[in-house]
Amino acid sequence: MTEPFYVTTPIYYVNARPHLGHAYTTIAADIAKRFHTMVTDETFFLTGTDEHGDKIMRAARKEGLSPRAYVDKISSLFRQLWPQLNISNDYFIRTTDPGHIAVVEKVLQKIYDQGDIYFSEYEGKYCFGCERFYTEKELVDGRCPDHQTEPELIKESNYFFKMSKYQQWWTDYINRHPDVIRPERYRNEVLSFLREPLEDLCISRPKSRIKWGITLPFDQDYVTYVWFDALINYISALGYPDGELFKKFWPVAQHIVAKDILKPHGIYWPIMLKAAGIPIYRHLNVHGYWNVDDSKMSKSLGNVVEPLQLKNVYGLDAFRYFLARDMVFGLDASFNEEALVKRINSDLANDLGNLFSRVLTMAHKYFGSIVPAIDSSVEQELSLGLSREAAQTIDEFSRHMESFAFHKALKAVWRFINRLNKYIDVTAPWVLAKSKSSRKQLEVVIYNLLEGLRVISGLIYPVMPDTAARMQQHLGLDPETDFYRLEKLRAWKSLLPGTKLPKTVALFPRVEMPKMDGQPQAGQDQAGLDPPLLPEIDIEQFAAVDLRVATVIKAEPIPRAKKLLKLEIDMGEGRPRTIVSGIAASHRPEDLVGRQVIVVANLKPAKLMGVLSEGMLLAAGDGKQTAIVMLDKKVEPGTKVN
Ligand code: MSP
Repeated sequence: MTEPFYVTTPIYYVNARPHLGHAYTTIAADIAKRFHTMVTDETFFLTGTDEHGDKIMRAARKEGLSPRAYVDKISSLFRQLWPQLNISNDYFIRTTDPGHIAVVEKVLQKIYDQGDIYFSEYEGKYCFGCERFYTEKELVDGRCPDHQTEPELIKESNYFFKMSKYQQWWTDYINRHPDVIRPERYRNEVLSFLREPLEDLCISRPKSRIKWGITLPFDQDYVTYVWFDALINYISALGYPDGELFKKFWPVAQHIVAKDILKPHGIYWPIMLKAAGIPIYRHLNVHGYWNVDDSKMSKSLGNVVEPLQLKNVYGLDAFRYFLARDMVFGLDASFNEEALVKRINSDLANDLGNLFSRVLTMAHKYFGSIVPAIDSSVEQELSLGLSREAAQTIDEFSRHMESFAFHKALKAVWRFINRLNKYIDVTAPWVLAKSKSSRKQLEVVIYNLLEGLRVISGLIYPVMPDTAARMQQHLGLDPETDFYRLEKLRAWKSLLPGTKLPKTVALFPRVEMPKMDGQPQAGQDQAGLDPPLLPEIDIEQFAAVDLRVATVIKAEPIPRAKKLLKLEIDMGEGRPRTIVSGIAASHRPEDLVGRQVIVVANLKPAKLMGVLSEGMLLAAGDGKQTAIVMLDKKVEPGTKVN
């Protein structure tokens, strides 16, 4: 039995229109929820809007609207945006909902009754932008670090929540459950806050100053501090305390927030829960910030990125893929349109799109648009371990998805996509198609490729649900089913021979940068490289590739494999190695003997056309023009190449 899954986004302030940052967190939560529907029937995904407080009241005033009319207007912008980004939230909460207000009152009363809230006079520096008091230490040059304004000194009687009482408990809890806040850097940040004495939290605002809030149940002259109100949404939406949803989903709660709101979620919220006698969330997942062209996104810089505009130009799935692939969850990322275009062209149009169209075009051409049957007598030899690799990919993908490492999960899927593209190159179905005697081999190759596409369509479902459904449809399957369930993806050879394949389409056409004067255009990245440059690697990653000098001692063609040559090489190991290389069209075997080449010596051996290849030759280009990398003077076989 798999556990239920509950995921939340922050509830967004309604003082600004939704932008790329809000879209990212919400898409991340959507990906997590969709991933969990691959393993369990019970998921709940919550998002919503945070509508009380001074900040909102002032924004309403600026627009000449009543707070109520204003929050309705902006909240509906968020609510209407999400379906357009394929967000599958199960509920949308607003802090102005009567049900939410009732739960906030209940929690406040409980904590008050047990003596964890006290009344006291306080004088301190208050930032109206943040709606909170600042300690001297938190200020930067006497100014609010967020608003760069000097906070005002105000003296007020207010209600305080005894956070300090729970400081030790929370520190111990984190040390006992180290992954409660993840990734690790944010747990460490919270632990470092906790090394300093925790001040009690001022949880009220006098109505003489702010009226737009939830009245304290034990004092009609005060409203509740917005954060105390807002955090409770995560349980009020589930019908705390007796709701069925609360009982089922709260024990498995996972929040997603960005680093800006680590403190309320990593300190106030768990302590509020503890004081109210409610178990703590399972994980707080914290991501970094999207900057735009390396600057902070802000209205004043005029660089706020609108998610719908990007969707309209590049397509929704491409946009979702880019966000999930280009941000390392936990670290900041920089958004720019060129990077988006590059990603689409290299990963989606080239890798996935080409694989899809190559395989389906061949299935249509060689098998009259019908999924071929496979003959087990030739299957073993031609499957080249694909089913095992599919299973490994599914495992790796799931492991990374569980911990919100979306970029790593996608990398694993793309490794498999590229493996399938290679599989086409080495099995050369167009050669098999030329002779009747290799019909059975051709059936196995095309069947395996279709099956590989079926697995891929399931694995991309959380990130690109529309594309996943389109792939299913073009594999002759029903996109309305739960085709993405992991147990279905694990069942290799599920495609039924005889299934009719509908007419094929292009999954992702290449895209161009929008033309702007003086701006580079699509495909013309700085170096003008095609395919575009791969993401940067560090020296350790490069060092993992063991390159060696080897002398060719024998070279011969491989029957029925026009493109391939079989080489025997001496790498100074006391025995020759066999290497299969796609250089038959560009090189004659007799010209290679005695030459020194460079070999990737620690590449996992693979069988190509029945021959075990124990490494890979370095060469440039493909097909007829291939040039082999050779040395300009003789060196010892086995010498390392750096
Ligand atoms: N209302 C509070 C949250 C209360 S939750 C109980 C709030 N609202 S907010 O509108 O300011 O949203 C902040 C959140 O929006 C961030 O934590 C993050 O999820 C998302 N983002 C806003 N800007 C962002 C970036 N530039 N980059 C990534 N995410 C960002 O705080």
